Amino acid sequence: MTANVTSIITEHDDRQNGLVVVKMEHLKKSFGNNHVLQDINLAINKGENLVILGKSGTGKSVLIKCIVGLVELDDGKLIIFGQNISGLKDKELIEIRKKIGFLFQSGALYDSMTVRENLEFPLRRQLHSMPKEEMNSLVKEALENVGLAEAIDITPSELSGGMRKRLGLARTLILKPEIMLYDEPTTGMDPITSKEISNLILEVQKKYNTSSIIITHDIECARLTANRIIVIKDGICAAEGSYTDLENSADAWIRAFFE
Ligand SMILES: Nc1ncnc2c1ncn2[C@@H]1O[C@H](COP(=O)(O)OP(=O)(O)OP(=O)(O)O)[C@@H](O)[C@H]1O
Ligand SMILES: [Mg+2]
Repeated sequence: MTANVTSIITEHDDRQNGLVVVKMEHLKKSFGNNHVLQDINLAINKGENLVILGKSGTGKSVLIKCIVGLVELDDGKLIIFGQNISGLKDKELIEIRKKIGFLFQSGALYDSMTVRENLEFPLRRQLHSMPKEEMNSLVKEALENVGLAEAIDITPSELSGGMRKRLGLARTLILKPEIMLYDEPTTGMDPITSKEISNLILEVQKKYNTSSIIITHDIECARLTANRIIVIKDGICAAEGSYTDLENSADAWIRAFFE
């Protein structure tokens, strides 16, 4: 037992000492002449909700796609759980990515399956054989987490937009990710449903001590969920601070996000 703990501490130095789960150093990504991410430096701490703000097209989605490997970075370092991603073998990358949940804007649900089957799907894919009872209890817990226990036997097409988003979240959470990436979780929702989603993000943080990145244009969602906020502009992190810090920034361009 002691030997194991020591080896984890050596291998995951950052994670144990600085409690950093994701670190980006001089990260760069261009698409042809479109130099989207030019010099991104940031760290996400264990258990923290980090909100990313920035105008449309500034590379917020690209940034989180780099973390899950949907976009390959051009230059710089990406360190997840203390491990430099560029030096890892496919098998090691898969193990790391299992610990990362991604809530897509669409929710990525299967409309021909029931709610229950939508939740069983990631379990079967990632954990292969699992006793039926255990699967039932995980599905039940995931649905209870998002307040959808009643919807277990219907299909997602019968759900409202807010409920679909919650089901998307349940589907991601069922694998108990240590890092959650939310790409515009409240876009297109009425203020009450948006607030429900923001509260769910907070509950996930509290219950599982998840570290999250939340990309949003919804300033109320940022206010409710953020422990820290970063603003991306011209390919770099142009400002960083708490909601109150940035709301009262000396820079009118930054303050404009909060109006
Ligand atoms: N696979 C790709 N191939 C080429 N260009 C891309 C690709 N993905 C993103 N881009 C470009 O990178 C830039 C940043 O896109 P990204 O989707 O990250 O913006 P965003 O900040 O998330 O914007 P929004 O707030 O509108 O979602 C855009 O100019 C986009 O066209
Ligand atoms: Mg985006």
